[in-house]
Amino acid sequence: MRKKIVAGNWKMNLDYAGGISLFSEIVNMVRDEKKGDQIAIICAPYIHLNSLAKLGGDVVKIGAQNCHQNDSGAYTGEISAGMVKSVGCEYVIIGHSERRQYFAESNELLAEKTVKVLANGLTPIFCIGETLEERNNGTYFDVLKTQLEQGVFGLSADDFAKIVIAYEPVWAIGTGLTATSDQAQEVHAYIRKEIAAKYSSEVADETTILYGGSCNPKNAAELFAQTDIDGGLIGGASLKSRDFVDIVKTFNS
Ligand code: PGA
Repeated sequence: MRKKIVAGNWKMNLDYAGGISLFSEIVNMVRDEKKGDQIAIICAPYIHLNSLAKLGGDVVKIGAQNCHQNDSGAYTGEISAGMVKSVGCEYVIIGHSERRQYFAESNELLAEKTVKVLANGLTPIFCIGETLEERNNGTYFDVLKTQLEQGVFGLSADDFAKIVIAYEPVWAIGTGLTATSDQAQEVHAYIRKEIAAKYSSEVADETTILYGGSCNPKNAAELFAQTDIDGGLIGGASLKSRDFVDIVKTFNS
């Protein structure tokens, strides 16, 4: 079912004590101030996940920012979907543009990871987005379509219905340049249209599609008011409890 989600992505920030302290603030504020059925999620570095889930995973859901595509084995330094599941995680970000760019993660690899995340009963937050060059040369719809086709359109309709999509234009991530609500809505409507063409209009209507890229308390309301935008994936602003919770509260009224 289509949900209202605000997911924070802490990226590679905060040591252990810093993560506990920020998460405690967020949990207390969400508990006191959130009204409605929106879901707040924090996707933290692996070292935090176990403690955060115990501290307040019932109030603010916990997500990982990545996982490996295999179950276990000789993959030094890697973490499996089963491992993050075992500490109380419910979500995993897959295919963030920083993983695609700095770790050369291909659509094919991301498709494998998505399958593994689902097999472990977790919800993938599958990210797609175009670069500035692709936006400017007008190829962005093609780029997004390829990311969908190769990344998630191999899933059965039943499995596809379990995933969350995040549209994150690369040029808007961490740059302070937000897509306008019209630009974001145009792409979200396009994504929904492609899902309808691949699966069905019912599946498309039920898919939760988040916007990410310099989303903040000032612009969230206008973005989330768009017909096809169901919430946000929040980077920088999720590192400030007040800002993150104010974005969650955008759905209060
Ligand atoms: P940003 O990051 O909000 O700092 O632009 C978004 C993201 O990378 O998920």
